[in-house]
Amino acid sequence: MSDGKTIESVMEEVRRFPPSKEFSEKAYIKSMEQYREMYRQSIEDPEGFWGKIASEELHWFSKWTNLHSWDKENAIIKWFEGGKLNVSYNCLDRHLENGRKNKAAIIWQGENEDEVKTYTYQQLHTEVCRFANVLRSLGVKKGDRVSIYLPMIPELAIAMLACARIGAIHSIVFGGFSSESLKDRIADCGSKILITADGNHRGSKFVPLKANADVALEKGTSIEKVIVVNRAGAECPMEPGRDIWWHEEMAKADRSCEPVWCDAEDPLFILYTSGSTGKPKGVVHTTAGYLLGTCITFKYVFDYHENDTYWCTADIGWITGHSYIVYGPLCAGATTLMFEGIPTYPQVDRFWNIIEKFKVNIFYTAPTAIRSLMREGEKWPQSRDLSSLRVLGSVGEPINPEAWMWFHKYVGNERCPIVDTWWQTETGSLMITPLPGAITTKPGSATLPFFGVVPEVVKDDGTKAGVNEGGYLCITRPWPAIMRTVWGQHERFKEIYWTRFPGKYFTGDSARCDEDGYYWIMGRVDDVIKVSGHRIGAAEVESALVSHHAVAEAAIVPVPHPIKGEAIYAFVTLKAGVEETDQLRKELIAHVRREVGPIATPEVIQFCPGMPKTRSGKIMRRILRKVATGTAEELGDTSTLADPGIVDVLIQGSKALHRK
Ligand code: WTA
Repeated sequence: MSDGKTIESVMEEVRRFPPSKEFSEKAYIKSMEQYREMYRQSIEDPEGFWGKIASEELHWFSKWTNLHSWDKENAIIKWFEGGKLNVSYNCLDRHLENGRKNKAAIIWQGENEDEVKTYTYQQLHTEVCRFANVLRSLGVKKGDRVSIYLPMIPELAIAMLACARIGAIHSIVFGGFSSESLKDRIADCGSKILITADGNHRGSKFVPLKANADVALEKGTSIEKVIVVNRAGAECPMEPGRDIWWHEEMAKADRSCEPVWCDAEDPLFILYTSGSTGKPKGVVHTTAGYLLGTCITFKYVFDYHENDTYWCTADIGWITGHSYIVYGPLCAGATTLMFEGIPTYPQVDRFWNIIEKFKVNIFYTAPTAIRSLMREGEKWPQSRDLSSLRVLGSVGEPINPEAWMWFHKYVGNERCPIVDTWWQTETGSLMITPLPGAITTKPGSATLPFFGVVPEVVKDDGTKAGVNEGGYLCITRPWPAIMRTVWGQHERFKEIYWTRFPGKYFTGDSARCDEDGYYWIMGRVDDVIKVSGHRIGAAEVESALVSHHAVAEAAIVPVPHPIKGEAIYAFVTLKAGVEETDQLRKELIAHVRREVGPIATPEVIQFCPGMPKTRSGKIMRRILRKVATGTAEELGDTSTLADPGIVDVLIQGSKALHRK
């Protein structure tokens, strides 16, 4: 489509799943009429709508003076300007007064079955205050950046909330990223503290986080202190003067720590995410709008009620974990389950085991996990008692109707509504999603917009697409949790999101809207690849490949994968005289894993003598995509290519690889 083609949309799904009467009666949003009425208010009177919710859902140290402003020209967005609040106060302190003091805030299940820790709101509050004091003692102040590179352990949530308590800005780097990626992210935001762990086990593998971090810090960075959590009891060299142990600092720290009252628009965190070009960008979320957006979507979309046990299986290193393991649930006073392990260890029923063990009521996961567990057969979920489940959720990539139906049948026992939630790192909170007591679902559709969200599918020329006509998904106005800027590069924020269709936020996704106004997300239209729901930029993998001495040029494209959703297919042109061997293929794969991280491992590497390019030298990815997916016969016009002969060579090369 980036090559000027229109998006074809062929999916036809006729099954419908209305909410049950029993469910709707108890839900916050009980009917389509109620949804429509609230949606109408949120659009016609945003001030009234959000003002009321913000007063009801959040604690304010002082109230805002201007509810919302939007400078379209300069892409400057503000919500609740003039208001003061503290995120950790909202997630912790106020629950100590409202009857939730001894309620479980976080239930942590370690990778080993017998490792479970529960933090009540009071206990979590104490730990957060102590760690906030540790940070303070190291000179961390409001506005300073703190990088976090931790596995899924409670210290991760504690560190986030401690930063929020003193107004420091956290930047979490997913543990599956390499030293190189960590180094780039530290350099971009100039953080002075890094929090990591000695390492952690993932299934049978050991991830040496501290050793990775040491490599990232080798050449001198802004980092002054490294705080290390002793998670695995692993061998772990500590650099005197720089590295300190979490538990030793905590033992010295005081239990009380006054929160810093932040401005509504003070940054809360930076989270790096991949786009179509260049290095990952630091998405900046601010305080009030983000917190409100995550809290209210959490409550309404998952229909959280006071005694529910809620479990989101994402990693906190991604936005889903930020918004829906930590901030949304804790702000709403929920019990959030945090799981360190993987779905297949020690065996493939781990998810079902955990649901049974903790009587989970709300379960939020990803299509890739569903597909991989579906392959193992329904006997696994069927051999566990999953009757506690009430709501199921899906996120991260389009869910194919087959996986949706399996989830519905064997996990939800045909009883639980599924909320297929569409959103992004940039959007902060859920955007297009069913409300489980109100909206009839259709497998594969994220259904209708949440309050305050105005989506529009537009064509190449910016005009609105017709019913069921595929196009680019835009959002026509800001909502409270939208990102505010790219860290240090506001121009880039404007350019990436607001210029393709002037005055509209461009999501980078394609979609269609059907005759009932339901949205069907069709996937990315930029060079972002979703591997097992992880967001990988083609540019990052390509630059990793060309940094290898044997490589002259590289281009990567997505290919469909039955479990991962998409996988990475790399075309690589070697330098003159370098031999194309399987050994080199392996070496290149290892190189990408080192440079970007294991999550970016190419599935296939095809060597080729050249790339299909336009006469101006631009690589035509459309052609590479077709070659990679074996659909090159639909190529159509290749006359704009500088060397049309290359296409046949690529097709032959791809066939030869498939025969292997
Ligand atoms: C995709 C993850 C279809 C989409 C929260 C989006 C989805 C990108 C869905 C953002 C869904 C996310 N249906 N596609 N329910 N949810 N996506 O930033 O392409 O990691 O643009 O945020 O994931 O990925 P990100």
